[in-house]
Amino acid sequence: MSNPIFFTIPLIAIPILYWAYTYPKNKYKQTNLVLYVHDNHTGDDKSAMTIAGKDGPTTSIMHFGTLLVHDASVTLGPDPGSKEVGRAQGMYINSQLDGKALYMIFSIMFSDGDYKNSTLEIQGADPFVLKEREFSVVSGTGYFRFVRGYGIMTTEFLDIQNKRAIIKLNITVRHF
Ligand SMILES: *[C@@H]1O[C@H](CO)[C@@H](O)[C@H](O)[C@H]1NC(C)=O
Ligand SMILES: *[C@@H]1O[C@H](CO)[C@@H](O)[C@H](O)[C@H]1NC(C)=O
Ligand SMILES: *[C@@H]1O[C@H](CO)[C@@H](O)[C@H](O)[C@H]1NC(C)=O
Repeated sequence: MSNPIFFTIPLIAIPILYWAYTYPKNKYKQTNLVLYVHDNHTGDDKSAMTIAGKDGPTTSIMHFGTLLVHDASVTLGPDPGSKEVGRAQGMYINSQLDGKALYMIFSIMFSDGDYKNSTLEIQGADPFVLKEREFSVVSGTGYFRFVRGYGIMTTEFLDIQNKRAIIKLNITVRHF
């Protein structure tokens, strides 16, 4: 047992184990994005419409069971005239019996800016009566491959009469 190999193996193995344990933690990138979604449910420039519900396609999104499809402008600033970087395309389903929460599932499809041609997939609950709602970012494509993260959603502007809203999304994601 005087062979020096028995003493050198632990000396090599310990640093390798340490490296293997700590290395993957530093591999991801973290990106923060602040975006504004413009949802107009009326007018010539309407970007959202209800398509099914308890009273047919015209049922209000405020009722349990209503399905709404949207293709909304996504901009860098709260002003609808600020730079459009993509569209939010997907749907909202009113999925709370008292009507006070939506289930949302949509893609943010970037068409301009730093993340052009990439997408983020948003999924989760939107209890819109709350000031701040946290949602999950479940995946993405392009720059955002293997993405995961969360976002905080706040209603920046709401015109109930004309069904227009500006929603702020503050998204934090980790990806490679
Ligand atoms: C929504 O309406 C506002 C005016 O109230 C307009 O400036 C904006 O371009 C519209 N947004 C979309 C996505 O159509
Ligand atoms: C985005 O996609 C378009 C059309 O497929 C392509 O022409 C363009 O080069 C792409 N831009 C980037 C930054 O990948
Ligand atoms: C976005 O959210 C993070 C926390 O997740 C916060 O630290 C940051 O101040 C927020 N940014 C804006 C512009 O709201």
